[in-house]
Amino acid sequence: MWTSASRKLLAFVAGLSLMEGVWAVPIEPRENQKKCRKTTVVVLGGGMAGITAAQALANQSITDFLIVEYNGEIGGRMKHTNFGKKKDGSPFVVELGANWVQGLGTKGGPENPIWTMAKKYKVANEYSNYSSILTLIDDYETAYAEVEQYAGVILKENLQDTSMRAGLALKDFKPQKNMAAQARGFNALAKGMASTFLKPNDSRLLLNSIVTDIAYDKDSVTISLNDGSCISAAYAICTFSLGVLQNDEVSFTPKLPDWKQTAIAEFQMGTYTKVFLQFNETFWDLDTQFFLYASPTTRGYYPVWQSLSTAGFLPGSNIIFATVVERESYRIEAQDDEVTKAEALAVLREMFPDKHIPEPIDFFYPRWTKVPWAHGSYSNWPVGTTLEGHQNLRSNVGRLYFAGEHCSAEYFGFLQGAYFEGQEAGMRIAGMLGKKCKNMEGGCGEYKRYEALHGTTRFAEFSPLNGWDVSSFYVAGK
Ligand SMILES: *[C@@H]1O[C@H](CO)[C@@H](O)[C@H](O)[C@H]1NC(C)=O
Ligand SMILES: *[C@@H]1O[C@H](CO)[C@@H](O)[C@H](O)[C@H]1NC(C)=O
Ligand SMILES: *[C@@H]1O[C@H](CO)[C@@H](O)[C@H](O)[C@H]1NC(C)=O
Ligand SMILES: *[C@@H]1O[C@H](CO)[C@@H](O)[C@H](O)[C@H]1NC(C)=O
Repeated sequence: MWTSASRKLLAFVAGLSLMEGVWAVPIEPRENQKKCRKTTVVVLGGGMAGITAAQALANQSITDFLIVEYNGEIGGRMKHTNFGKKKDGSPFVVELGANWVQGLGTKGGPENPIWTMAKKYKVANEYSNYSSILTLIDDYETAYAEVEQYAGVILKENLQDTSMRAGLALKDFKPQKNMAAQARGFNALAKGMASTFLKPNDSRLLLNSIVTDIAYDKDSVTISLNDGSCISAAYAICTFSLGVLQNDEVSFTPKLPDWKQTAIAEFQMGTYTKVFLQFNETFWDLDTQFFLYASPTTRGYYPVWQSLSTAGFLPGSNIIFATVVERESYRIEAQDDEVTKAEALAVLREMFPDKHIPEPIDFFYPRWTKVPWAHGSYSNWPVGTTLEGHQNLRSNVGRLYFAGEHCSAEYFGFLQGAYFEGQEAGMRIAGMLGKKCKNMEGGCGEYKRYEALHGTTRFAEFSPLNGWDVSSFYVAGK
């Protein structure tokens, strides 16, 4: 794969050879070297939202686009790593971020597009069996509230707690989701999608490319990259995570308007940490997928444990992982691996007092809030955020558009939220470029925005169109 630097060099050399027999060319003046690469639409970020936006453009014959991705591969927070080892010494693959397909479809209605693609691109899915839960607590009565609040939230509500928005979404909640466990990694979804409109090594995908500044106005957008190059486009779709926007990883020229900055600051980036341990044996019950633990003293202290050694996941792997969220995530992110490992082992020893629990042979957890291209796992709808306030998170500023899971009023925090928002932004821009709107449902042209917010969202304002009325996807069968 070409790095953007070598690509630039090549373009430069190609440019030279076109000049008539002048090999002793003087060094180009700085201004010329800074000449920006031109494209119609620049898509910032190659996660689910970015890849979907580009596919939506390609679907409407807009093929002049560039996708700018920080990492060496696409997939964004659908990220995996090698962990532990098999008998033959090769590593297992574990997912560090998104790998749930939350709800597969609406009964008699549309299917969750993530589920459609999981089937299409053969990302193996294993049903998460919530009947297969073992609650490992001493004093069930007093600890129950803790388990319900933390373990329950993680398992069933996927961290979408307390807000009115979540309360409504959960009224028809069915805790059905599938978890992907397969050797290629869950980002095979993004790669599968991309393969429908990008050629292998397509020059429109710029990997390892870090955006430093986004300059925008009514007519164009200019993206500066950290290698000194730039891209000038008619439209941009920024799919960076809310965490990236909140942490000023990228500057905006001019500064984003107040209504936009407020929306970014007030929405919430959550964090979710999986702590992986591999042992030399599976000392826990092989038929159980989930183990719940309630600490007698600390809320949210390693509350949910999930076995990957179970059939359908990574059988025989002797891998188990704990999930912690929010305050506990921040706490363990800030401490050394050894401290966290000792805490996790102490919890396991409390959960399985009759077992001899050896030291793990491998141990790892990601520190999502410290990842410069993510700054957290996924967004949460904070108490008190109105529909109008959230709409401002989605709205474009001039030619700069936004997409990502945090932009979805209905599915924030989920992959399908990223999908729908990427699709919407791509459709709107394709409509403006083609002068023909094909996005009848979501609307066309610029996004609505509210420079002045009105107090609260009245009940009558919740409707299927803004997503507030619609229940989570329903899983047929099982
Ligand atoms: C894509 O690039 C890789 C790495 O440079 C190379 O090995 C591979 O052959 C290329 N594939 C195609 C289809 O050009
Ligand atoms: C693009 O078109 C294909 C084929 O009709 C469809 O399956 C896919 O969902 C479309 N993508 C988007 C993002 O709308
Ligand atoms: C889920 O777990 C329960 C209890 O262990 C078991 O009886 C049931 O067969 C499992 N269901 C599926 C679909 O595996
Ligand atoms: C795992 O390691 C422990 C401690 O080193 C040892 O006692 C136990 O026998 C080992 N188990 C297996 C299956 O090798």
